[in-house]
Amino acid sequence: MDNLLTMKQFNEENIMEILNYAEYLKRHGIRELPGKYLVSNLFFEPSTRTKLSFEIAERKLGLEIIQFDPGHSSTTKGETLFDTVKTLEALGVNAVVIRHPEKEYYKQLEGIKIPVFNGGDGTGQHPSQSLLDLFTIKEEFGYFQGLNVVIAGDLSHSRVAASNAEALQKLGANVQFVCPDEWSGDYETLSGWDNVIEQADVVMLLRVQHERHDEKMSFTKDQYHAQYGLTADRAAMMKENAIIMHPAPINWGVEIAESLTTHPKLRVYEAVENGVYIRAAAMEMILRGGNVHAQAAPKYLAI
Ligand code: CP
Repeated sequence: MDNLLTMKQFNEENIMEILNYAEYLKRHGIRELPGKYLVSNLFFEPSTRTKLSFEIAERKLGLEIIQFDPGHSSTTKGETLFDTVKTLEALGVNAVVIRHPEKEYYKQLEGIKIPVFNGGDGTGQHPSQSLLDLFTIKEEFGYFQGLNVVIAGDLSHSRVAASNAEALQKLGANVQFVCPDEWSGDYETLSGWDNVIEQADVVMLLRVQHERHDEKMSFTKDQYHAQYGLTADRAAMMKENAIIMHPAPINWGVEIAESLTTHPKLRVYEAVENGVYIRAAAMEMILRGGNVHAQAAPKYLAI
């Protein structure tokens, strides 16, 4: 048994194993797992991509989905997260996917025996999003070592930034951060795009996470876009083979100019598609009783 909780649990070899297996699934198709598994998706925060993508991966793997709606569950009566998951485990559910507003919520789940797949923990981590971003970058370039990646936007509130910075640096990419001072957190940031945009291979914009802000932004949307967003002028300065990423949902006109919605460098929907293969790969590798750290994709390639 293992879990998918944070990119901290991966080393370079583990990351490549899961990317290679996702690539195999994309090429050959996701097959139903032998045996019967029940899985439940517990989303305590809104989601379109992560929830549906896990659900599609689960259906393709032949898993039976046990519906869970937080708004109509006993969590509204004070049931703890541990009790909810322990109850599902007692009912025979074999794995859970959890998105929760609390950073490192999974630390409350000590003693839970079934695998937990983290669909995002507050401002903590979003490992499946990071893996699908890495998969998308690998498809594009084939390597990570020496790639210039710029992550720009609401860094201190972004679990995607935390996960991707961790993973990309492990893989040898040069990662730079562009961000307003007030959202820089522990990151060493640049306050603008000068001398950055022209060198970047990957420009990754982050959503402005108003729901996690205690205070109102000190600039207007237009001011933010002009200083920190990907404007049409900046996009025109990018290298020929560079790509634009964003975990989405996108505030068009804020993080990325509205005129770029169909820009050929954009890889937002390719990344969404890749999410199904990454999530299926992670679920298969863990549900088949192994350890995602130790299992090699070649072992699966031989199935
Ligand atoms: N990228 C992402 O996590 O999107 P959702 O919030 O729609 O799941």
